Amino acid sequence: MQAWEAELMRDSADLLCGYGTNFLEAGLGLGLSALHIARKPSTVQHQVVEKYAEVIELFEERHQPLPSSLKIIHGDIFDVVPQLDSESLDGIFFDPFLPDAVNNDVSLWQWFVPELVRCLRVGGVLIPCFTSKPSLRWQFEPYFDRVVIERRRFEAYASTNYMANHQGSVFIQCFERCSMD
Ligand SMILES: C[S@@+](CC[C@H](N)C(=O)[O-])C[C@H]1O[C@@H](n2cnc3c(N)ncnc32)[C@H](O)[C@@H]1O
Repeated sequence: MQAWEAELMRDSADLLCGYGTNFLEAGLGLGLSALHIARKPSTVQHQVVEKYAEVIELFEERHQPLPSSLKIIHGDIFDVVPQLDSESLDGIFFDPFLPDAVNNDVSLWQWFVPELVRCLRVGGVLIPCFTSKPSLRWQFEPYFDRVVIERRRFEAYASTNYMANHQGSVFIQCFERCSMD
């Protein structure tokens, strides 16, 4: 993650926090979004699942004292979510950086996204990392009846090699669970 993305992380976190008090995040990284969510006075609990112990150690060294609402779980998001209670979350921020083989594994997402939906209360939302493409994330689109999309301007660095353009629009997609189905 590069510094120009920090504001987009915080914007995504702000959107998420508008939906309640109890959240889950996939992927700690530098912890920018995690801290932003956990430090909101309205947040009661923010659970963050991170696969790599080194990422957690580095974060914990840098950010003492941690907000009391923040609970970091060392594990794989694909193992942790099936263990969570149904309808226990107001929102999920989904930002693990996954390899293409995982991103493109259709049967994995057909199993996993209903698990994410199961954990959301009706009216709760799932927000994946922003995208530069103005099309719905195919992994999530079939399972939600309402999607709110926020456009943001971005300006990356000349050296940023993972965006198609160095400036332009990105889209934060907010998928809402509308019913018990
Ligand atoms: C892009 S970073 C998250 C950035 C974060 N939103 C921030 O504000 O700094 C992605 C993180 O997800 C973690 N990750 C990757 N695969 C994972 C998995 N299967 N389960 C949990 N965490 C995972 C990576 O180790 C990495 O720390």
